[in-house]
Order: sequence, then C-alpha cells, then structure tokens
Amino acid sequence: MKFFVDTADIAEIKDLAATGLLDGVTTNPSLIKKAGRDFKEVIAEICAVTDGPVSAEVVAMDFDGMVAQGEDLAKIAKNVTIKVPLTIEGLKACRHFRNKGIMVNVTLCFSPAQALLAAKAGASFISPFVGRLDDVGSDGLTLIHDIVTIYNNYDFETEVLVASVRNPIHIVESAKMGAHVATAPASVLKALVNHPLTDRGLETFLKDWAATGQKL
Ligand code: G3P
Repeated sequence: MKFFVDTADIAEIKDLAATGLLDGVTTNPSLIKKAGRDFKEVIAEICAVTDGPVSAEVVAMDFDGMVAQGEDLAKIAKNVTIKVPLTIEGLKACRHFRNKGIMVNVTLCFSPAQALLAAKAGASFISPFVGRLDDVGSDGLTLIHDIVTIYNNYDFETEVLVASVRNPIHIVESAKMGAHVATAPASVLKALVNHPLTDRGLETFLKDWAATGQKL
C-alpha cells in the first residue's frame, strides 16, 4: 500500500519524506487555506520534495473552466495530479486529462456507483472519503470494500486512494481489502508506528544492555 500525506504544510511533507515512507501528497482547497500560502507556489514546492503524485484540485464547476485550471496546474511539474470533483463535468474533464496523459484524482466519492463512473472515465485515482461517511453514521470502510471488489471484477487500472482517513484502523482495514493508497494527515501516518509493547520492550532492552557494562 502506498502512503500519501494529506497536507499542504511543507515542513510536514519534508519530515515524512525523510522517512522514505512517503509516496505522494494530496491537497485540497481547505488544506491550501490552512497553509495560508499561494496555491501554485506551494504545489511547486511540494513537487520539489517528492517525485510521487501531488494532487492539486481545480475549483471551476464547468468542463472548460476545469480544463483551463487543470492544464495550468499540470504545467507546474510532471508529477502534478489534477483533482476533479465527482460530477458529470468533472468526469468529462477527467477523460480529457487522461487523453492528454495527465494523471487525475477524482475526489469527493461517497458511493460505489460514483467510483464505477470514475474508473470508466479513466481516473488514475478515486478518492472515497471514509471518515466523512463514518461521521454521518455510514460505514466508510464498506465503501472501500465495494470499490475494490468492483475494480477487481473488471480489472480497472484506477487506484483506490482511501481519503478522509482519521485513524490507523482506516489504513490497516483498507490495506487488508487491497486498496492501493491511503492519504492521511501526518499525525495518523506517524501513529502507525506506535505500540506500547514496542516501547516497553525497548525500555527493558536498554536497561539490560546498560547492566552489561558494555559499549558499542
Ligand atoms: O483531501 C481529501 C480528504 O482526505 C479530506 O479529508 O479529513 O477533510 O475529511 P477530511
């Protein structure tokens, strides 16, 4: 499973890239607002940190506007992935970008039917939002299971990019289902390493090592 970080904070991205575990970055208009930075400048900086796909979202609602914005964003770097919403206009734009060899992430997916349409439109990635479904009392992970099943049934090349991830369980359960990518805040990716038995074991090993009186 690939890990993308869901942020526009350069320091966080650099910190994770240094672990060697980072495969890409996703942003959205809310994350750009949070970063308080110029959109295109921050996307260029992120692309200089990682070779992996970097999602940059269009904000036009119509096909022509999405094409104009997406083509402009795609000029920033080869690894820019254009993020379009799951609407008819977004699906049309998705097909347009794919025909031009530009990667596309179709976002705001909340149903298997929507995911099927995105795959048919040639999306590189589909972004189902698990956390936001959980928030309204639906089971986000069931959506991941359904999409993976449908995509496998037809050998679609679209990668399932699990988004709106809130905790390590979302990632582990999605990995068990065979989802290709998880995008999560840096805090959730870092939480994957935590286990109290690891901490306790390390403490004992270090204490026993000190008791040997040896040095390395
Ligand atoms: O970037 C898309 C998605 O990951 C947003 O997540 O936490 O705002 O629901 P969230």
